Amino acid sequence: MTVCHEHYHALHADMRLALDACAHQLDHSFYAYDLDGLDSHLATLKQAQAKLWFAVKANPVSAVIQSLAAQGFGFDVASPGELNQVLAQGVSPDRILNTGPVKTPAMLREFLQKGVRIFVLESHQQVHDLEAEAKRLDLSVDVLLRVQLPWPKSDDGSINVLGGSDPTPFGLTPEQWLPTEIQFSERLQLRGVHCFQWGNILDADELIANWQGAMPRLAALLDAWQIAEPVVDLGGGLGIPYTGQSDVIDWQQVCTALAQLKQQYNLGECWMELGRYAVGPYGYYVSRVADVKQNQGVTFVVIEGGSQHALRPALTNQAFPVQPLHASEAAPLPVQIHGSLCTGLDCLGKLSLPGDVKRDDWLVFSQAGAYGFTESMPFFLCHSLPAEVTLRGAELTVVRPAAPAASYLA
Ligand SMILES: Cc1ncc(COP(=O)(O)O)c(C=O)c1O
Repeated sequence: MTVCHEHYHALHADMRLALDACAHQLDHSFYAYDLDGLDSHLATLKQAQAKLWFAVKANPVSAVIQSLAAQGFGFDVASPGELNQVLAQGVSPDRILNTGPVKTPAMLREFLQKGVRIFVLESHQQVHDLEAEAKRLDLSVDVLLRVQLPWPKSDDGSINVLGGSDPTPFGLTPEQWLPTEIQFSERLQLRGVHCFQWGNILDADELIANWQGAMPRLAALLDAWQIAEPVVDLGGGLGIPYTGQSDVIDWQQVCTALAQLKQQYNLGECWMELGRYAVGPYGYYVSRVADVKQNQGVTFVVIEGGSQHALRPALTNQAFPVQPLHASEAAPLPVQIHGSLCTGLDCLGKLSLPGDVKRDDWLVFSQAGAYGFTESMPFFLCHSLPAEVTLRGAELTVVRPAAPAASYLA
């Protein structure tokens, strides 16, 4: 079931004013994060009978991490950079979990030395390396096994963020994780399993069907290891509405399903690592129109920013919803929005904008609070980096000013 929010993408009058003030002050493309909206959303997520982690890759901005920390979230980090960014916000390392297909011995040592004690293991090599590093430092740590289930191809041919239904580098099959295939020393305490093979799902029925499809195979592995009160970490994958979508996932239904899974499979805890669902709707990418032109029957709106700031639309062929910063009554016109890179790949989508859109208008791309700037390709063509600002109440804080190419070129 999905909940339909017809006005989900509508820009609140207060937000319009705040973004307008940012545009005037910065005079450059920017990301803005609505911390009040984020806080009230996070407060509703806490009803779940699940331990919630934030997948830091979705948005590593300090103020965003601080909001999640204040709401009791743990942090799923995938690199020393993410680890250090979370620690720098005053988060205790016992609230940090490490997942990721690469964990070199040096990385593992750094994580252990900085106090991380929970790891999601993705290969036998990682088991051996973590054991060696834990032994060297005379520590014992908790681990989950990342399980990759052979997964049927979807009917609509869509692929998920982790690579679709083909084998991926994330985790191993249940058979490879059986006690006959791998043993653990007393340094590693096996707490449970991790499985996450679905992406950006807006329909709670579909998400829950994925979980139910996975659970019997995960439960068989947990039985093989005879783990008391096991943990099942179901990753992320809860969607947010991009262009053409107005539904949002029914969080109540998700909570009920988690409680049922816990009971049905006698689990100690369910965990989730939320990325886009936690933060995506609370970010905007704002850029100015540089040119509007017709070419062979197509209206091109070319913006000053583009994929160097917001690559996700080009990567996924799924646009961030867009509207002009200043509301217009003009009839909508189909347009292609392009950025400033010299490649046809720099397309932010085939969308519709009011027919009077013109040079120097500002465009607001919404749902851009997750997988925005840090998922982009900021250096190509040596343009300036976008600014990042936070909005709380009437307060606008520039957390990262726009920076010219000279700030990063060797
Ligand atoms: C291990 C892991 N957990 C959680 C997430 C967050 O996923 P989402 O943004 O779909 O919630 C990701 C995203 O790639 C991931 O790799």
